[in-house]
Parts: sequence; C-alpha cells; structure tokens
Amino acid sequence: MANAGYMVHADHGGQGIARALCAYSLVAARDSGFKAMQFNAVVESNVRAVGLWQSMGFRILATIPDAFQHPTLGYVGLHVMYQEL
Ligand SMILES: CC(C)(COP(=O)(O)OP(=O)(O)OC[C@H]1O[C@@H](n2cnc3c(N)ncnc32)[C@H](O)[C@@H]1OP(=O)(O)O)[C@@H](O)C(=O)NCCC(=O)NCCS
Repeated sequence: MANAGYMVHADHGGQGIARALCAYSLVAARDSGFKAMQFNAVVESNVRAVGLWQSMGFRILATIPDAFQHPTLGYVGLHVMYQEL
C-alpha cells in the first residue's frame, strides 16, 4: 500500500502542480509494485483536494466523523481515500 501527501504554496496554486505530483506518484508506485494507494486523512471540508483526488481516480472508502478540529468550521470528518493501481 503506497501513501503520499502533497502541499503546494498558495502563490503557485491552481497551476496543476498537485495534479502533476499525484500523477507522477501513481506511476512511480505502480512501477514499484504497489497494489494500491491510500490517503489516510483528507479533511472533508477541503473540497479542492477531495475533488482533485476524486478526479484522479480515488474514491472515499470511509469518513471518520469529527476527527479534525478545523479552525473555523469546528469538528469535521476525515476521508480515507483509496485507489487500486
Ligand atoms: C490541495 C492542493 C495540494 C492543490 O494544489 P494545486 O497545485 O493548487 O492543485 P492543482 O492546480 O493541481 O489542481 C487543483 C484542482 O482542483 C480544482 N478545484 C479548485 N477548487 C475546487 C473546488 N472548490 N472544488 C473542487 N475542485 C476544485 C481545480 O479546478 C483543479 O482541477 P483541474 O486540474 O481540473 O483544473 C493545495 O491547495 C494545497 O497544498 N493545499 C494545502 C495542503 C493540502 O490540503 N494538501 C492536501 C491534503 S489531502
């Protein structure tokens, strides 16, 4: 099971950098023999990230309720996102 995490500086957001990083990771993980990739904790209110990962083939396996204390929204869920390679 491969795992990855990404952070793009706000000054450079929206240019496809995270999409390119994730696409590279998926190929590298597959080529290395991993059977699947999982993101363990995607904050459900992070709609940008959730939408991006879904568009790259990840699905939400489960949502852990109230697992993250958001600074303005209060407690929100954490998605476990997964795709087979
Ligand atoms: C989430 C993050 C990695 C995205 O990085 P980025 O380089 O700006 O992302 P990209 O430009 O590759 O792609 C953003 C995509 O989200 C889409 N998007 C933007 N706002 C959206 C929204 N409100 N809902 C759904 N999709 C949205 C864009 O349309 C784009 O898709 P496209 O390629 O089809 O146009 C970046 O915002 C970040 O570092 N955030 C803080 C850390 C974080 O949340 N990391 C992810 C943890 S799971």
